[in-house]
Amino acid sequence: MDDILQTQNPAVPEFWLQKDPDEAFADMRREKAVHWHDMPASVWFPEGGRGFWSVVRHDEVVRVSRDQETFTSEYGTELVDNTLEMTRVFGGMLNMSGAEHAHHRAIVNRVLTPRTVEALSDTIRVHARHCIDRVAARGQCDFMQDVVGDFPAQIICELLGVPTEARARLVELTGILLSGYGTADVYDALMEIIAYAEGLVARAREHISDSASFLRRLLTAQVDGKRMSDYEIAVFFALLVSAGIETTATSIGQGMYALSLFPEQRRRWQSDYHTLAPRAVEEIVRWVTPVVHFRRTATRDTKIAGQPIAEGDKVVLWYHSANRDERVFARAEELDFSRPDGQHVAFGGGGPHFCLGAVLARKEMTVFFEELFTRLPDIEVSGEPRRVHSNFVNGLASLPVRYTPA
Ligand code: HEM
Repeated sequence: MDDILQTQNPAVPEFWLQKDPDEAFADMRREKAVHWHDMPASVWFPEGGRGFWSVVRHDEVVRVSRDQETFTSEYGTELVDNTLEMTRVFGGMLNMSGAEHAHHRAIVNRVLTPRTVEALSDTIRVHARHCIDRVAARGQCDFMQDVVGDFPAQIICELLGVPTEARARLVELTGILLSGYGTADVYDALMEIIAYAEGLVARAREHISDSASFLRRLLTAQVDGKRMSDYEIAVFFALLVSAGIETTATSIGQGMYALSLFPEQRRRWQSDYHTLAPRAVEEIVRWVTPVVHFRRTATRDTKIAGQPIAEGDKVVLWYHSANRDERVFARAEELDFSRPDGQHVAFGGGGPHFCLGAVLARKEMTVFFEELFTRLPDIEVSGEPRRVHSNFVNGLASLPVRYTPA
């Protein structure tokens, strides 16, 4: 593929490795709200597959997100086309729409509540301390590998009641799921996670224990007299591990990097941590935008910002671009804890699929940075970050840091 195409098409993973992907998006936003992009080749789709419409401005990302009737998730939220069966196994409720999605969501909403997250608070703090303490004496390390490490994975495992000895394999499988874009390994990893989850659900049904309480509550929760089946819960388990680990790790890692680029904001936060935490966390999530896109499919001929879209066309919401839209965010490239709340689309543009884990993600970030600033208050970035090779998560593979040993 030629270089010019690679720098302009955000579906090409190399787009994200260029010096300034933000500038490329800014050019696109200036020109128009919706662009056509070809689908890059991958192992599964050597021909590249069907192209798609890229929505790059904030208003249109919000509008499309809130109109599931016209822009449905049920044919998949990934860039690539999959069979309907695969789409369902890969995304569970993420790739449902209408009454079926509403039913799943209503059940999960009864179980994954702010109270559930609050009850995990102490556990989150224990894991955060452990992650920081294990490197505290060293004076320098890699923030992604050594500090953030498996923190979000441990929290999801605690929530789901995964025993300690099974966690390393689960984390490994989740890594394959998210990094092996377009390869057969992804399918095998997903099947192994679902098979494991089915066993865990079966055990949760038979044995009452504290660790299985989340799964037990999912098993028994009813809406309109209907429950989720064991298999549906296993698919939801796979969705939680894939949705809840890399996203939060990215927020913390890229968040640390953002704080190093904007030291004044960091000073403000460290000098009044609790007052500023809700805004700081939200602004970090906007600045980072860990999930850079999700996709919809048009259910009828329609238009977005005047651009005709045909029934069946794929429409991709570039959250990363919407969160840098100068029409909504002044000096959008800057981290600024004084911004008004509630406008970013990092957890989705509103509408029925808005992130179910937002409360948990915010909690994890708040506790983690509090523990970090308490234990290693002068921690600073000491080298260039290395981004993961992905067009889906804005993750970091590596971020060198140094600090006074504690
Ligand atoms: C900063 C961290 C996170 C970010 C940026 C994020 C982002 C997103 C986005 C963009 C969506 C799709 C919204 C839409 O289509 O409108 C989503 C959905 C979802 N997220 Fe998150 N997420 C994060 C953390 C989490 C965590 C920790 C969990 C698990 C506890 C989680 C579970 C989910 C689930 C289950 C859905 C599907 C909801 C549905 O289809 O109704 N997320 N997330």
